[in-house]
Amino acid sequence: MSKVLVAYFSRKGNNYVSGNIVNLAEGNSSVVAHKIQKLIGADLFEIKAVKQYPTDYDEMTVVAQKEQNSDARPEIAKPLPDISQYETIIIGHPNWWGTMPMAVMTFLENYDWSGKKVLSFCTHEGSGMGSSESDLKRACRGAEFSKGLPIKGSRASSSDSQIENWLKENGLL
Ligand SMILES: Cc1cc2nc3c(=O)[nH]c(=O)nc-3n(C[C@H](O)[C@H](O)[C@H](O)COP(=O)(O)O)c2cc1C
Repeated sequence: MSKVLVAYFSRKGNNYVSGNIVNLAEGNSSVVAHKIQKLIGADLFEIKAVKQYPTDYDEMTVVAQKEQNSDARPEIAKPLPDISQYETIIIGHPNWWGTMPMAVMTFLENYDWSGKKVLSFCTHEGSGMGSSESDLKRACRGAEFSKGLPIKGSRASSSDSQIENWLKENGLL
């Protein structure tokens, strides 16, 4: 089986977890991305915005909402991976205001996705995948999609069996 790429965005710092603000040393989506890497030996790529996002949760929600409302494409750090060597690409991200962070859209729009298999997971605090799957489909025209994996952020570190089942359903494990 050819190697899989997991490209993920995640933000450490203050986040809203089960009703409380918690300072995360590692972001929830990063935790899940690393679990997938360990399970299937995938390559990992972190999608990072060039600008520094606030560590404060409330400030972050304001910045994220502005980016979404203006349909922004925040600049992301280079170099970007060459995806031609991967048949399957897993996109991972938090749910920000009902969909993926706009920096993930910046990443997606760098590529021609025809012929690729694209799967996505999202960590969230109650909204699940939101509209991220339909947004993903719009950004990755020509790809083949499969059902995404929503994981509650507070359960990221204990999500092993959920991840394993999803990878098995998709023939990746
Ligand atoms: C800017 C911002 C917006 C968010 N919007 C939502 C939302 O609309 N729905 C939801 O369920 N969770 C929302 N959350 C919570 C995150 O999706 C959740 O904490 C996620 O696990 C964070 O992932 P990360 O640690 O990988 O960045 C939001 C968090 C932030 C910082």
